[in-house]
Amino acid sequence: MEYYVMTLFPDMITRGLDTSIIGRAIENQVLSLEAVNIRDFTNDKHGRTDDYPYGGGAGMVMQAQPIYDCYRSIADRLAYRPRVIYLTPQGRVFNQQMAREFALEPGLVFLCGHYEGVDERVLDEIVTDQVSIGDFVLTGGELPAMCMIDAISRMIPGVLHNDESAEDDSFGDGLLEFPQYSRPETWNGRKVPQILLSGDHAKVDAWRREQSLMRTAERRPDLLETAAISPKEKEFVRNFLANKEKL
Ligand code: ADE
Repeated sequence: MEYYVMTLFPDMITRGLDTSIIGRAIENQVLSLEAVNIRDFTNDKHGRTDDYPYGGGAGMVMQAQPIYDCYRSIADRLAYRPRVIYLTPQGRVFNQQMAREFALEPGLVFLCGHYEGVDERVLDEIVTDQVSIGDFVLTGGELPAMCMIDAISRMIPGVLHNDESAEDDSFGDGLLEFPQYSRPETWNGRKVPQILLSGDHAKVDAWRREQSLMRTAERRPDLLETAAISPKEKEFVRNFLANKEKL
C-alpha cells in the first residue's frame, strides 16, 4: 500500500505515523507514506494557497490550483488511477467495513482541508470519496487522515504480527470485543474471572462470546442489527436484556 497525503502540514502526518505499528510497517516497506506539501505547488508569488470566498462570509477557502497541481504531481507517477479521499464532516462516516475495502487498493491519496473549506471545483475534478470520521468538527483533515491510515493499515497483511491479530477485534464480526485480563490474578482486591484460569479453551471461548454479546447489547445495541449472530445467540441477548430490566 502506498499512501500520499496532500496537506499544508506534512510534518504532522509524518511525525504522527512514524511510531509503533504503523512506523514499523513503513520501515519494513510493507507500507509507504509520502506527505506532499500543497504549498510547494502554489503559483502565487507570496506562497499563498487560500483566498476570500466569493459571495463573502467568514474564513478563507483553499484554492483549486495548488491542490490540483499537487494531485497531478502524485497521479502522474502512478500506473493506476488512485482513489482520492477528501476528509470532511460532510462525508460518509468511516467504519471498519470501509477500512477493509480501502485496504484492497494499491494506493490511496488523501486531501486534507483547512480553513472554511476547499474550492468545490477541484473537489469535483479529483475527489472520488468524501469521508468523515464522525459527527464533530476538527480544525483540519490531518487527524482524520491519520485515523483512516491507521485503521486501513491494520487490515493489510504483514502490518500486524501474529500476536497482534485483527481477528478478535471489536467489529471483526460486528460485535464489541470481550474484556481482557493479565497478571496478577488479584489486583486491588479484584479477581480475574475464574473461567479464564480453567485452561478449558472451549469454555473460555463460550464465555468470551457471551461477554461480547452482552457488551454489545448494553453499549451498542445498534450493532446487533447487522452482526453475524445465530438465532440461539439472539435468544441469549433477549434473555440478558429482559433479566437486566428486572434488576
Ligand atoms: N475535517 C474536519 N472535521 C472532520 C471530520 N469530523 N471528519 C473528517 N474530516 C474532517
